[in-house]
Amino acid sequence: MNPKTDIDWTTETRWAATRQALESAHGLPAQAYIDHDFFAIEQEQVFGTSWVPIAIADQVPAGQLIVRTVGGQSIIVTRNSDGDLRAFRNNCRHRGTELAAADCAVANTIRCPYHRWGYNLDGDLISTPRFDEVPVVGFDRGDYGLHRVRIAQWGCLIFACLDPTTMPLETWLGDLPQRLAGYRLEHWRSVESRDIEIKANWKLISENFQEYYHLGWVHPELAKVSRVEDHYRYQGPGMYCGQTTTPVSSDDRNDWTAMPAAAGLSQSDASSGRFIALFPNVLLSVLPNHVFLMVLQPVTPGRTIETCTFLLPPSTADVLEADFAATRSFWFDVNDEDIAIVEAGQRGMSNGGFTPGRLSPRFEEPLHRFHNMLADRFVGRDRVLGGDENDHDPRLGTGTNPLPWVGQG
Ligand code: FES
Ligand SMILES: [Fe+2]
Repeated sequence: MNPKTDIDWTTETRWAATRQALESAHGLPAQAYIDHDFFAIEQEQVFGTSWVPIAIADQVPAGQLIVRTVGGQSIIVTRNSDGDLRAFRNNCRHRGTELAAADCAVANTIRCPYHRWGYNLDGDLISTPRFDEVPVVGFDRGDYGLHRVRIAQWGCLIFACLDPTTMPLETWLGDLPQRLAGYRLEHWRSVESRDIEIKANWKLISENFQEYYHLGWVHPELAKVSRVEDHYRYQGPGMYCGQTTTPVSSDDRNDWTAMPAAAGLSQSDASSGRFIALFPNVLLSVLPNHVFLMVLQPVTPGRTIETCTFLLPPSTADVLEADFAATRSFWFDVNDEDIAIVEAGQRGMSNGGFTPGRLSPRFEEPLHRFHNMLADRFVGRDRVLGGDENDHDPRLGTGTNPLPWVGQG
């Protein structure tokens, strides 16, 4: 038997090194990053059961239908006549034809291209041309509506979940909506988006985002703005790993602060950058004046599409291109440095002979948390991990935040 393929990643024993306490835990084995069997199970067990981001709200106006892939499966998303989001499996209930191959406009009916069966925007089957010219026994259109997929929105992000048994999105998010309530992200708009292909496993990209251990060496310029000693914990209960920098920017560079801050922020929000890795594949950087959002779409074990989107608050009507250009180029310079190092990580995993190393409790607790969330999905455990009791007390060497989030609301 091929020893690579008889590994059962859905049993707790496979994750024993992850389940150790942080101080004793190991990182993940190379298979988690390079193995096709692992990748296939991950698509099913992780992306097929999680709340996965599929769009920003303003990308799905009424009359628009979008096609997205979740856990390797295609779904279509639109709004019904009341403006409510609806998501369906992308196949016709007659003989399974794909309903849409790409984003498109939709009027009142989703129509199959094959025999023109029509569904309203709630997925009900409403027309079956010439179907029962000879009667079909026991056929009731009510039984053949499109298969619904769960869909929900938080802030300006729209999420879908293929698994009907997974906890609701509000439970998944834990205290994040409360933590970020002051930004009122539901009113922010997307202004620019680009896809970047990265030759690395999606988890390496997320793990790299979660830790600032590498800051001084990989990002010498960023380290001037976002200093290691200004990073603090920002991690309550919820399916996320979070950190904050306060103050968000030192005086050396002002690339991040060239645009005006959102109106109405608390002193803590106005002075901080919030860096959230929402499980499984959302990387959210919330600054006082903009959001840089990265969504990771796994393509193969060693390839990921990273969709990067800038969001601006409603109080920023027009931005001078020069001010936005500074923010944009700063992010992409930093991102290029991250891409180079995670691609080196992928090559290292592929070079053979890697055995899992140890994690730094001071800097890599979020990775341990992330690995445990991953293990939970693989073994079929639907639970939310707890968080710090408060943001005031230093933990794992992070020091005392001068302007902690105080948990209002
Ligand atoms: S397959 Fe869709 S109408 Fe026949
Ligand atoms: Fe980085």
